[in-house]
Amino acid sequence: MPLPSYTLGVMEASAYAPEVFARGLPSSPRLRQQSEDTGEPINSVAGVASPLLSLQGIGLSFGGVVALADIDLSVLSGEIRAIIGPNGAGKSSLINVISGVYRPDRGHVRLDGISYAQVPTQRLAHLGVARTFQNLALFKGLSVLDNVASGLAYKVRSNFAGQVLGIGRSRGEQRDSRSRAEQILEFLDLSSVRDHLAGTLPYGLQKRVELARALVAEPRLLLLDEPMAGMTAGEKSEMAAFVRAARDRFATTVVLIEHDVGVVMGLSDRIAVLDYGRKIADATPDEVRNDQRVIDAYLGVASDNEDGAGI
Ligand SMILES: Nc1ncnc2c1ncn2[C@@H]1O[C@H](COP(=O)(O)OP(=O)(O)OP(=O)(O)O)[C@@H](O)[C@H]1O
Ligand SMILES: [Mg+2]
Repeated sequence: MPLPSYTLGVMEASAYAPEVFARGLPSSPRLRQQSEDTGEPINSVAGVASPLLSLQGIGLSFGGVVALADIDLSVLSGEIRAIIGPNGAGKSSLINVISGVYRPDRGHVRLDGISYAQVPTQRLAHLGVARTFQNLALFKGLSVLDNVASGLAYKVRSNFAGQVLGIGRSRGEQRDSRSRAEQILEFLDLSSVRDHLAGTLPYGLQKRVELARALVAEPRLLLLDEPMAGMTAGEKSEMAAFVRAARDRFATTVVLIEHDVGVVMGLSDRIAVLDYGRKIADATPDEVRNDQRVIDAYLGVASDNEDGAGI
């Protein structure tokens, strides 16, 4: 019996709140290394051969609950990197640290050679990072196309008057966003529902629309928190194929949380396993599958609950 998921709805949805898009974001910020203590920039050296993403010594507690303890993680460019573990192991917390929703108590997130005490979540898209949420965070009353186009709103630079009057650069930008959104919808086989209200779609399709919104900006790093949760076996296979195709087409690096062990083993290049906030294994799918500690902490239980879905 899985534990209830921790609901982060308010905080997570706020990252996609319409007012954030409408306000726009600073263009091309030169992001620099931050001091852990002050959050002020310190010197930065881009590491040419370093991983796209690495976490060093990440610790995070909520009151007495240790969500993450001394986590190191390295994600190489172009790989599909899975994070697995039992309910409450700290997987979503880790994604929330990587995406700047949480500031860790200890440690650093190093993204593309630049180290952060807290990743600037409001500039995530500019950093080339996109994410989906364990609990769907779509604009249910907007069309699928508008939801997906909203993934590009951070790029809109038109001024307020232009937006109100619908003239000049803003109209061109809107056209451009919609045409890119249409391309992604086609890529993910969603064109036939482009004008449907997102909230009226079956759950599995809503999850795919969320993937489309994350992908539309062609992020370098895509964070997926249980993209296949609640799907049928067929939908999971389809989603896994789309994730792989997205990696191949956009050269996107993927960090994926997923409970379906069959999907994870087939899709991932490397798997990190969390248990009670600690990393207990980090290896290839074959090595993880045969790791006794992982079997005891998770795989034995997970395979009991497995619904037989694979890819
Ligand atoms: N905002 C928060 N406030 C208080 N406790 C939190 C918060 N976020 C996470 N936690 C706690 O931190 C621990 C790790 O939670 P997290 O959501 O990261 O686990 P998870 O591995 O994603 O679990 P699941 O598989 O159920 O989604 C849990 O004990 C959870 O209750
Ligand atoms: Mg979670």
